[in-house]
Amino acid sequence: MSANPKQAREDHFERDMAQYRADFPALVQEVNGHPLAFLDSAASSQRAQPVIDAVTHYETHDHANVHRGVHTLSQRATESYEGARESVQRFINGASTREVVFTRGTTESINLVAQCFAGPRLSAGDEVLITHLEHHANIVPWQMLCERTGAKLIVAHVEDDGSVPAENVTSRFTDRTRILAISAVSNALGTVLPLDEIIPAAKAADITVVVDGAQAVPHQQVDVQALGADFFAFSAHKMVGPTGIGVLWGRETLLDAMPPWQGGGDMIETVTLEKSTWNTLPYKFEAGTPNISGAVGLGAAVEYLQGVGMDNISRYEHLLLNVLTEQLEAQGDVRIVGTAPGKAAVVSFLMDGVHPHDLGTIVDHHGVAVRTGHHCAMPIMQRFDVPGTARASLAFYNNRDDIDALVASLATVRKLFK
Ligand code: ALA
Repeated sequence: MSANPKQAREDHFERDMAQYRADFPALVQEVNGHPLAFLDSAASSQRAQPVIDAVTHYETHDHANVHRGVHTLSQRATESYEGARESVQRFINGASTREVVFTRGTTESINLVAQCFAGPRLSAGDEVLITHLEHHANIVPWQMLCERTGAKLIVAHVEDDGSVPAENVTSRFTDRTRILAISAVSNALGTVLPLDEIIPAAKAADITVVVDGAQAVPHQQVDVQALGADFFAFSAHKMVGPTGIGVLWGRETLLDAMPPWQGGGDMIETVTLEKSTWNTLPYKFEAGTPNISGAVGLGAAVEYLQGVGMDNISRYEHLLLNVLTEQLEAQGDVRIVGTAPGKAAVVSFLMDGVHPHDLGTIVDHHGVAVRTGHHCAMPIMQRFDVPGTARASLAFYNNRDDIDALVASLATVRKLFK
């Protein structure tokens, strides 16, 4: 036991958090003859057993279509689906379930806002402001919209350490800025953007704020009301839930004023051959049979994460981030791309003279999963003049052994390529 009480508390906390790893069955396997060290959670997290169980239970016992039947299974399915919406609303502190729209994920959520909210409102010469570090999902929909409307895409500068001081964004506001589309956390660099400074300034300038929250929601407490944005998007598969389901949270008044996204069943109130009228929120944006089991999984994921505690997750991931950063810095031939103060647990790095894809392939031979390439964020790679990086991204189910495995495998990379 440590003589230092602060260190003893940290050790105790780390031991406590270690218990959650056992909830992730995929982590208990060997890959290429080595224990799996999964360091690619920013791309997609592993699934918690309670999430797998909830989906299996639903598929095994409760499946039927939602909102459509008086029979028992349809009612059970509807209760599960709407229960998940309530869990999500509580998790992000939305004001009402009417503000929680289920989508296929962050990408669809942002496209929905671009097309249904911004599309009808933008004219030639208006400006959409993004930052240089956005994921393609928060660039391409706006480029497409600008092409269609004649609006201009304006890009806020990212500093050499990957940080984006509020001033870099607010100094780009003009009287034509209509939309600010901005990440909460960069998937490629781990930068945490100072939204608490940026959003109030944007709102004071009457700019609609769309937040890509995909890399924030799994790692820190998010309160959409406190944040003050207008739209907030995230995906279940990065937060121990299933693929193919995510959320668009939006202010009710804005969602209410928007035209529907897709036409079909469930999004209507009445249909005649001459005219249709729309369902209430959030159903107006959920045409067709939705991803019911996905929503069930998302609801279970949210409950699970709340059980672990978002503050615990954040604290533990930062502890691991410090260990990982120190170990990589000690290598001598490794350069970390993105060192913004207060960053999240994503570490993009390069090894001198080694292509990231080669590095990723060799460490995989040692059971270590990292992502390599441009991370769906080509502009920020161009900004740093690199074709891509290797990226180790942490979740609360990682531990020091995973980091040691990565560092040990780098020795083999060095031997083979240098
Ligand atoms: N957006 C995902 C990533 O960061 C796919 O890897």
